[in-house]
Amino acid sequence: MTNSPVTNDGLADEETPFIRNAWYVACFSRDVVQGTPFMRRILGEDVVLYRKADGTIVAMKDRCPHRSFPLSSSKIDGDDIVCGYHGIRFGFDGVCKLVPTQASAPRALNVRTFVVRETSPVVWIWMGDTETAHRTELPAAPWMLDDFGWATAYDYLRVNASYVFLHENLVDLSHLTFLHANTFGTPDYATAPFETEITDETIVVRRTVQPTRLPPIYANPLGMQNVDAARIVTSTFVTPGLSISAVVLRNLEQPVESRVDHHIRTAQLVTPCDQRTVHYHFVVARDFVIGDPGVSNFILQSVKAAFVEDVFALESITRIRRDDPDIHFKEKSIASDRAGVMLRRRLLALAGQEAS
Ligand code: FES
Ligand SMILES: [Fe+2]
Repeated sequence: MTNSPVTNDGLADEETPFIRNAWYVACFSRDVVQGTPFMRRILGEDVVLYRKADGTIVAMKDRCPHRSFPLSSSKIDGDDIVCGYHGIRFGFDGVCKLVPTQASAPRALNVRTFVVRETSPVVWIWMGDTETAHRTELPAAPWMLDDFGWATAYDYLRVNASYVFLHENLVDLSHLTFLHANTFGTPDYATAPFETEITDETIVVRRTVQPTRLPPIYANPLGMQNVDAARIVTSTFVTPGLSISAVVLRNLEQPVESRVDHHIRTAQLVTPCDQRTVHYHFVVARDFVIGDPGVSNFILQSVKAAFVEDVFALESITRIRRDDPDIHFKEKSIASDRAGVMLRRRLLALAGQEAS
């Protein structure tokens, strides 16, 4: 890690255009119920999602090309969607199939569709170029999927803040001691050694806190209250739609040869809604006490309580950035911001590439 101060020029912020060519989580699988359209605003566009008769999901622009009625307030009929205003019918491919008052169904009435992939418990969407979507793998986080074998629990927060600052927050673990003092922060966290690794693909921050005492979220399910433990946390910016928090927990009071590493990972699924609102889906997966739904619920509620503290910070920051009349204010970065600064530079660069 460098100790040199970083410049804050050229960083993405709430004014930066969205990055369309990336996979984002549109919603959870459970949100899209057969027969009922589901609306979500993504990258500044309203999108309607529904399930076809075979259970697969389609997504299209939530705006009838005739008079802009929301298709999400319309009717699903087999694999088609029938506009609730004048009854124009669209196939799952967005093609206009029927205008009730005339013989022809003009192509001008076709609706834009988006590429969708469902890997339960999440539904991914690609808001950019379709060809690029077909060439791009989903980000790899197999442990969050239903069929991987780890215990998972998941939830959602809608946050009135720019997705850029949520991403920055997720690679900045120096705030745990302070913002999360009442949840999963511990006093020794902020000063623990950490390393930052930046590659063309990812930005990684790894922090090792040992010996430490685990907060209840980890200590209670593992029965590791009041024992010396190691807590190794790796935060990885993977794509504009995904950041991963991976935690390794180890009981240091056990003999070295019988120590077991316990893992808990969170898929932080970051989807811009608009410039100052973000859909924050998160899936928490673990490889210990996996058969106990009570533990899943305890961990999920504990994680969510901490994330609500992040929401408070991010929404406060966004409000002040919007409302403070001081036009000369400029963010100042400190040495531990290196990963966050690199991340915001990368988001700005990706947005710039799409615009050019
Ligand atoms: S607005 Fe949809 S059919 Fe008229
Ligand atoms: Fe946080």
